[in-house]
Amino acid sequence: MTESGISLLEGGAALSDDEIADLYAVADRAVPWLRVNFVSSIDGAGTHNGLTAGLGTPADKRVFDVLRRLCDVVLVGAGTVRAEGYGPMRLDEPAVRWRREHGLADQPVFGIVSAGLELDPADRIFTDAPVRPIVVTVERAPAERRMALAEVADVLLAGEEHVDTARIRSLLAKRGLVQVHSEGGPHFFGDLLSGDAVDEICLTISPFAEGPGAGRITEGTRTGIQRRMALAHVLSSQGTLLLRYVRQPA
Ligand SMILES: NC(=O)c1ccc[n+]([C@@H]2O[C@H](COP(=O)([O-])OP(=O)(O)OC[C@H]3O[C@@H](n4cnc5c(N)ncnc54)[C@H](OP(=O)(O)O)[C@@H]3O)[C@@H](O)[C@H]2O)c1
Repeated sequence: MTESGISLLEGGAALSDDEIADLYAVADRAVPWLRVNFVSSIDGAGTHNGLTAGLGTPADKRVFDVLRRLCDVVLVGAGTVRAEGYGPMRLDEPAVRWRREHGLADQPVFGIVSAGLELDPADRIFTDAPVRPIVVTVERAPAERRMALAEVADVLLAGEEHVDTARIRSLLAKRGLVQVHSEGGPHFFGDLLSGDAVDEICLTISPFAEGPGAGRITEGTRTGIQRRMALAHVLSSQGTLLLRYVRQPA
């Protein structure tokens, strides 16, 4: 058992949060890297009753938190922000301490991807954010909403009608945000894969079968995309599997 009472096993040994962080560390933090993290049921559902919470397990939550502490920016599609009712992202004290010890800013930046910008600038996600959030949007976004959001966030343009996901890593790296972590959602993930922008997929398989109804963890209209990924590790805890896949060199 670890300090938080969750037994994450690798070859039979329980892992501490620091050991989990080591397992998910990238080889070179200076190289732009985009990681996504998703949870799925055994039969491929990306939600339970429309939300991820019903698929979550303590082990998934634990890795979810560790992944936040490793990155420079957390990037989320606006649909997930609206559906999940995201509040301001603020890492807890142990995570802040860990980040300081590793030379990182106290808190990662929170970023939202949206074309329509149906986002309320008065939302706590902006007003209570520990660091100024970013909004990644497009040139066709409504100008008034863009201006209103620019009061509370840095608004970045990355495309005409859709955010060009192939540009995201370099766009953010120019701002010193090199390690990019995405927590969803399915349409944004689909676009990331279409743009060949994904370096790593962390996938939790939750020990539930959901049956038909829920969508997958990728959505969108582009088909025929196939990327081979290499399995970097498998962790397990009480029926939950935590898989880490990384991009294979071309
Ligand atoms: N299983 C999991 O791990 C997981 C993770 C996250 C979310 N979810 C679930 O997924 C559901 C939400 O699905 P979703 O597909 O709507 O989520 P999403 O991908 O986060 O949101 C889609 C919205 O994000 C914006 N967006 C995404 N890609 C874009 C691009 N390339 N350019 C411009 N804007 C872009 C658009 O916002 P605008 O409409 O504002 O333009 C789009 O309507 C929820 O039920 C949530 O619980 C599951």
